[in-house]
Amino acid sequence: MIDQAEKLRQIINNLKERHAAGQENILSTGEKTAKVITVTSGKGGVGKTNVTVNLAIALSEMGKRVAILDADFGLANIDVMLGIIPKLTLVDVIYNNRSILEVLTDGPKNIKFISGGSGVEDLVKLDDEQLERFISNISLLDKLADIVLIDTGAGLSESVMSFVMAANEVILVTTPEPTSITDAYALIKVVSHRDRSKNIRVVVNRAESANEASDILNKLSFVTGKFLTIDLHPLGFIPHDEQVIKAVKMQQPFILSYPKSQASKQIMEMSRKLLDDSTEGTVSKEKGIRSFVQRLVNLMNG
Ligand SMILES: Nc1ncnc2c1ncn2[C@@H]1O[C@H](COP(=O)(O)OP(=O)(O)O)[C@@H](O)[C@H]1O
Ligand SMILES: [Mg+2]
Repeated sequence: MIDQAEKLRQIINNLKERHAAGQENILSTGEKTAKVITVTSGKGGVGKTNVTVNLAIALSEMGKRVAILDADFGLANIDVMLGIIPKLTLVDVIYNNRSILEVLTDGPKNIKFISGGSGVEDLVKLDDEQLERFISNISLLDKLADIVLIDTGAGLSESVMSFVMAANEVILVTTPEPTSITDAYALIKVVSHRDRSKNIRVVVNRAESANEASDILNKLSFVTGKFLTIDLHPLGFIPHDEQVIKAVKMQQPFILSYPKSQASKQIMEMSRKLLDDSTEGTVSKEKGIRSFVQRLVNLMNG
């Protein structure tokens, strides 16, 4: 029996051959390569989906083609945050043989998203055929987006860790709560054991003040630098803001409902930082969905 890793390598090779033969443009080569940014957290409910959706809109307004992949299997709610009911979801790609092009849904300001739906098994539990469908379909995103933001579940599950380790950039969201910070630290620890060169950008959400946020960022950087020898890159903070809560209830991204709020201003600031070439050093690994997918597959198979 060939092992699963070998089987997956064959899947990737088959896709490459089909591409080379010009039959299918599944694995793009050349310059059009999307940057994959995984948004994650140690603890749940800290603001990942809000960060993902609002950053996506800000990046889009700055001229980038942005797609969101909702990979919070179980609590998928990008669609809820946007107040848009998608016709099809990732479930249809993985189980019902639909193309990701049919599933890609238009959001506000030109962003596109792939809804997670409910009932997607943890990636590592998919069978080969289902995994092949997932892989060959997300590979198509290279053609459609400059930036792919992946909203993951919280915690240290294998598929979340795979999305984290395979991404070009990681945004780790925490709140000032001690439990959220210790869970963030636990995640950083796992990352550092797997790849010390991995760069992690941290966002403090629901901060009482800029001072509180920078205090947390400094302390977190200090302990990770001291005990884990991994560099953290502060990306910014979002204040605790009632307007964020109101926007969530209205199912509208706060950056659209309350563009003048402090939260929106901070999101704009973070987007500028993400696009700033001088921080390109924080991009690890080769860009493009094809190489992302290859790393993902390798990681999922140990
Ligand atoms: N900056 C903020 N200020 C106030 N409330 C917030 C803020 N960010 C998030 N929230 C609240 O926290 C809830 C969870 O946010 P969400 O983005 O869904 O977290 P996650 O995706 O990590 O589970 C939101 O519904 C909102 O009510
Ligand atoms: Mg979420």
